[in-house]
Amino acid sequence: MTSILRGTERAVRAARSVSGSVRVPGDKSISHRAALFNAFGTGRASISNFSPGADCASTLDCLRDLGVGVEREGERVGIAGRGLRGFIEPRDVLDCANSGTTMRLLSGVLAGSGIYAVLNGDASLRRRPMARVVEPLRRAGARIEGRDGGRLAPLSIMPVPTLRGVEHRLSVASAQVKSALLLAGLFGDAPTTVVELAQTRDHTERMLRAMGAGLEQDGPRCTINPADSLRCVHVEVPGDFSAAAFWLVLGVLHPRAEVRVDNVGLNPSRTGLLTILRQMGAQIGVEHVRDVAGEPVADLVATTSQLHGTTVRGELVPLAIDEIPLVALLGQFADGETVVADAAELRAKESDRLAVVAEGLRALGGNVQSTQDGWIVEASRLRGGTVDAHDDHRMAMLFALAGTLGEGAAIAGAESVAISYPRFWDDLERLTAA
Ligand code: S3P
Repeated sequence: MTSILRGTERAVRAARSVSGSVRVPGDKSISHRAALFNAFGTGRASISNFSPGADCASTLDCLRDLGVGVEREGERVGIAGRGLRGFIEPRDVLDCANSGTTMRLLSGVLAGSGIYAVLNGDASLRRRPMARVVEPLRRAGARIEGRDGGRLAPLSIMPVPTLRGVEHRLSVASAQVKSALLLAGLFGDAPTTVVELAQTRDHTERMLRAMGAGLEQDGPRCTINPADSLRCVHVEVPGDFSAAAFWLVLGVLHPRAEVRVDNVGLNPSRTGLLTILRQMGAQIGVEHVRDVAGEPVADLVATTSQLHGTTVRGELVPLAIDEIPLVALLGQFADGETVVADAAELRAKESDRLAVVAEGLRALGGNVQSTQDGWIVEASRLRGGTVDAHDDHRMAMLFALAGTLGEGAAIAGAESVAISYPRFWDDLERLTAA
């Protein structure tokens, strides 16, 4: 089982200034979908700017084990589609490693593909909740078992002749769950409807539509028709907003900063952090807005800004789900109080991010009070210290920023950045070299 090494520390120094431009890796969510969806398409697809992160490599490995022709040359990936029911029964367990998106989206597809498969992952993924996909998939007729009655991985998926078209009302705002159920809907005997609790990223809907799927959106209701075949589509993956977010926050918070991030995906279901930054008084320039393969893209410029506290809650949370930890850091530098609420989902990520953020920022002198579903943050001076990223890539990058903005930090579990952003440390070094 691949798992991230523990205990490798990385030291970060305080930076005198932050300047330059950076190109972030291809979007992780879109890369997973481009590979997986084309794998059950008809024809061949070329994907450019594919995420270099370990998570998307896990998706490619699983697809190879399912008999899919995958060619990779750096950030270009070629997929030879096997058609909707063309996956080959894997001889061994499919290893999703650290990737929740791989496990949950694959569960949806495999539930209907008529083969037997077992999905497993590393220690972090084996702790994450799976009932949210297993239970609704069972309601649609899937046969899935897992540890603790199907609440935890490993998950075993048994072949069934067909799935039922049903209506699912989600009890959690999750794009992974929504996507798994829409994907299973392709194998239904009637249309499947997913009713969202709050809007989440819609890359699945956009890509399936581009492949010819019958998909209708009516407010929070998304209905998908069963399909016999879908066509492969070439995908140019935009830069990952969730990676760009770190540089935007660094650019805004450092007292001598101007950072440019080119080619960033600005899908409105992902950019809640831009709303939050503006709410706090940050200056973010948005230039050259364009459309790339059905997704909005632009170049972003962040400059030193004086921030004031804000409250982040409700429907804004899922639109910034992976960036919420950055709000706790923003709050350390903002006038007044910054409150995050309704964010209990952060406990179900690669680590318990509500706890890890509070523990880590406090270790660096931060003023973060934990609540049941968020934090209350007040401005404070960050000092040097040692923090544990708990092998969570986004926590390692957050603490790197805290060290750069404060008085340095030693970060345990620093190599976990390879999950989504292998060149993170090089880019940080370059932007803070002056
Ligand atoms: C993702 C959805 C989100 C996000 C994750 C990627 C996706 O997870 O946190 O990093 O690609 O669909 P949830 O669906 O669990 O909120």
